[in-house]
Amino acid sequence: MKQISTFEDYLQQYQLSIEEPEAFWAEVADDFVWSKKWASVLEWNFAEPSVKWFSGAFTNLSENCIDRHLETRGNQTAIIWEPNDPNESFKTLTYKELHTEVCRFANVLKNLGVKQGDRVCIYLPMIPEAAIAMLACARIGAIHSVVFAGFSSSSLSDRINDSQCLLLITADAVYRGEKKIDLKKIADDALTQTPSIKNCIVYNHRNTEISMLPERDLWWHNLVKDVSAECPPLQVEAETPLFILYTSGSTGKPKGVLHTTAGYMVYAGYTFLNVFNYREGEVFFCTADVGWVTGHSYLVYGPLLNGATTIMFEGIPTYPDHGRFWDVVDKHRVNIFYTAPTAIRSLETYGTAIFKTKDLSSLRVLGTVGEPINEEAWHWYHQNVGKEQCPIVDTWWQTETGGILISPIAGVTPLKPSFATLPLPGVQPALLDSDGIEISGNSVEGNLCIKFPWPGMSRTVYGNHERFRQTYFSAYMGYYFTGDGCRRDENGYYRITGRVDDVINVSGHRIGTGEIEDAIDEHQSVIETAVVGFPHDVKGQGLYAFVICTGKIEDEEVLRTEIKAMVSEKIGSFARPDKIQVVPGLPKTRSGKIMRRILRKIAEGDTGNLGDTTTLLDPLVVEAIKNGAL
Ligand code: WTA
Repeated sequence: MKQISTFEDYLQQYQLSIEEPEAFWAEVADDFVWSKKWASVLEWNFAEPSVKWFSGAFTNLSENCIDRHLETRGNQTAIIWEPNDPNESFKTLTYKELHTEVCRFANVLKNLGVKQGDRVCIYLPMIPEAAIAMLACARIGAIHSVVFAGFSSSSLSDRINDSQCLLLITADAVYRGEKKIDLKKIADDALTQTPSIKNCIVYNHRNTEISMLPERDLWWHNLVKDVSAECPPLQVEAETPLFILYTSGSTGKPKGVLHTTAGYMVYAGYTFLNVFNYREGEVFFCTADVGWVTGHSYLVYGPLLNGATTIMFEGIPTYPDHGRFWDVVDKHRVNIFYTAPTAIRSLETYGTAIFKTKDLSSLRVLGTVGEPINEEAWHWYHQNVGKEQCPIVDTWWQTETGGILISPIAGVTPLKPSFATLPLPGVQPALLDSDGIEISGNSVEGNLCIKFPWPGMSRTVYGNHERFRQTYFSAYMGYYFTGDGCRRDENGYYRITGRVDDVINVSGHRIGTGEIEDAIDEHQSVIETAVVGFPHDVKGQGLYAFVICTGKIEDEEVLRTEIKAMVSEKIGSFARPDKIQVVPGLPKTRSGKIMRRILRKIAEGDTGNLGDTTTLLDPLVVEAIKNGAL
């Protein structure tokens, strides 16, 4: 595949990709394996919306990730698994071994009746079996829906039910740091509510005592024992659904973002190679969980498409101590390291003494993803981890975009801390004002939209195309709306300023305020809730909940603990509010809409100027909230 080598080269490639997008992407796609080439490169309109890339072509993603490397690098390590406990030994899988495991598991799926188009839910910790299960689904044309193993049983059952999954794949339990998570137990609770699930495959990871329901529950190790290690990759048409990944929006339940095969494959492969300037034989360490899109595109698919060695780390950055990431880098001679700003900010609080004992000289490129990185964290990362030798790629993208859209190209694009810099080839960003007019020129700010399709973009919300259209293509006709605000500086560099909707980014986890509000409202003493984000030193944003309760609350501390437990149970502990304030009312307009702008100001501690409150139904309520602010 063509790799961008200099800034001039980037400018040229970019120009070409805008002037001749079809020729540009056809050339990129030529480097993948197809059993039949496309009839047309691109057909699209953003009104329906309908987007088709490489229509008529046939391919298989697992073949592109594994089989095509067997001849040239069959004995090279594909996956290094680093366990939670550093005293346990790590595991590696070569491309050949990965091939065998994926084929076997694909045959297991087939034997259980899983067919092309069927949905398979994967609720696994960070173990190679997660990647094996994903690749096995892709091999037989089944659609995987990975659910992050930090989600609660009700979040899991909601996701299973929304896409009517046939099969659930989980493990007995996992340790993250010192905390044990009983995945099978959580899954069992979810499975009482999921009539579509026929079987549950359990990987025995920690030898934990669990209950197995006869006939429904099956052990992974028993199933793979006697199946063949041959499984030809099913050739699927380019637009065949590949995976569903649930993500939060402003309103309603999480949406099942759907990605299809060929466009996603080409885009994940191309962006991995170019953004990180990946070089043959390098070791790539992405710290994201496979339960999020970063884990899909840049832990599993992007690296494997390029024949790289990818690290899968089961633990957390602070166990057994805050030097763990650097131990992993040192031990496995990592060349490219990709993490979230939250992790950097949290490690920053421990100081820099730890670096004296770690050899980070293998590092060549650093990256960040998931949230804006503040300048201070950027410099800390650059100095202490990169020793001022490694470019940092601040990669902006979303679950819906499938891959990175705006980012420096490592070693090529001149950097500017806290700026995602420039669009990748094929990406046409636009800033729109509140009237929907595109803002031209530099030194401007607006709502970030994309005005031309790229291969990795999501095609629909599973089972609800109208929701897809409304969420992303109706705010500005003819544009994909990202939900982010953005500034373009005097040199045309982009800086993402954060969400402009009701999505909150906590530690790089995307959470919809509506989801948390629904969870809190289930508490018997709560009548109504409004949740907003506030700036948080480590997490980027924290969650501030304003709750109206029935009658007088005897002990607000007890209420807070119960509300947090409620959120853990309904969503997962990562979504627990940081602050909970009991209020007599919420600032509402006469039409009943909560004025979140005012609540955000109060949550930020900026109560001096709350702006116009005259349209409120009851302006006095604002005073009461202000006086009780935490
Ligand atoms: C935010 C994660 C600033 C943004 C890949 C986006 C970022 C949301 C960056 C998507 C970045 C992601 N700088 N903000 N480099 N990367 N975001 O779907 O608000 O979990 O809309 O995808 O994260 O989050 P998601």
